[in-house]
Amino acid sequence: MENGRIVADKGLREVIAADTHLSDIDGEKGTLSYVGYEIDDLAAHSSFEEVVHLLHHLELPTARQLEALSAFLAAERDLHPFQVQLMGTLAEQTSPMSMLRTSVSASSAFDPDGWDESEDAQARKALRLIAKTASLLTTYHRLRTGMEIVPPNPALGHAADFLWMLHGEEPDPEDVRVLDTTFVLYADHTMNASTFTARIVASTLADMFSAITAAIGTLKGPLHGGANEEAMKSFEEVGKPENAEAYVRDRLERHEKIFGFGHAVYKTYDPRATVLKRLSREACDRAGKAQLHEIAEAIEVATFEQKGLYPNVDFYAAAVFHVLGIPTDLMTPVFAAARMAGWTAHVREQYADNKVIRPGSRYIGPPERTWTPVDQRG
Ligand code: ACO
Repeated sequence: MENGRIVADKGLREVIAADTHLSDIDGEKGTLSYVGYEIDDLAAHSSFEEVVHLLHHLELPTARQLEALSAFLAAERDLHPFQVQLMGTLAEQTSPMSMLRTSVSASSAFDPDGWDESEDAQARKALRLIAKTASLLTTYHRLRTGMEIVPPNPALGHAADFLWMLHGEEPDPEDVRVLDTTFVLYADHTMNASTFTARIVASTLADMFSAITAAIGTLKGPLHGGANEEAMKSFEEVGKPENAEAYVRDRLERHEKIFGFGHAVYKTYDPRATVLKRLSREACDRAGKAQLHEIAEAIEVATFEQKGLYPNVDFYAAAVFHVLGIPTDLMTPVFAAARMAGWTAHVREQYADNKVIRPGSRYIGPPERTWTPVDQRG
């Protein structure tokens, strides 16, 4: 305590910064739930669209509600012509996460609800952001690789349409199932760094686009969402399972992180990683890339033996994304596409019960002193 205030550690680990109805983690037991439903249950049975409804309405949808939400998302996957035009420049000039940050910010100018900050308008803005993120990523990727843009197919679900727009081929139903489950697993995760960022921005009553733009900037870093791309690079560097032990040892000796391991909250296996490990094994086998999964498992064994760390969500997700044909530098943006569900729900929750988030800081600079004219300094 200092001057009647609690002094938190640098990472605010012990601070509870908000009440939420959306998700809950038990870091000791390794459990995660969305609005009361265990993540394993949702991963096994729910589609991403169902989870979007759950996070935004706090209930699973009825059949009619699901149909309406799916139709809204499908229609909104169409981009505004300006977004496509802007993409031409972004595809040439910038990295995928910077593109996404800029495109989401620019999207505020084209949202039909404009500056309407009513609850209904916020709900529609949230769904548009969730829908359009998929198309922003695929449009960017097609343009930067000199391919024709593939327009959305409203007959497809969100995960299937993403794969369709990315590859321009009818997606394999098994690939769709794997991606849809991965979207479910990534959809929300309590007060992680990017969600906290979004809530801070929303707490000033700035608009949703500002909050989400800031969240994307936060997710970009390799200590947060950027870890899946780094994990993929590590699989490539390791090359074969026999090299994993030495790779891990070398990095640890150099005090470098093994990306996709460790977690601020989980002190045991991340429950999302359990599901993703299974998906990775299945998807890699199906794609004839069993060795990729074996490399990942060998890194997991070595990292646990040498440092006692468990994989987090980003580790096996990297292998899954790779075999679905998602380029490495789109892996963090795909994480963002799924997390858009949680970010927007948290922003709406913040608006609904708001107080400006404004922690204190402890001054550790020089004691009070007197200003001197410039010719008397030095
Ligand atoms: N590789 C090597 N050592 C690690 C790792 C890792 N991945 N993670 C933690 N450690 C070590 C630290 O070096 C430190 O060791 P020391 O006590 O010997 O100095 C100890 O474990 C504690 O680490 P902290 O960084 O203090 O743990 P914290 O809980 O603050 O960090 C974090 C969590 C940032 C996720 C960390 O584990 C990390 O950097 N992991 C790698 C990046 C990553 O995978 N990020 C994705 C997280 S999940 C997500 O955001 C979606």
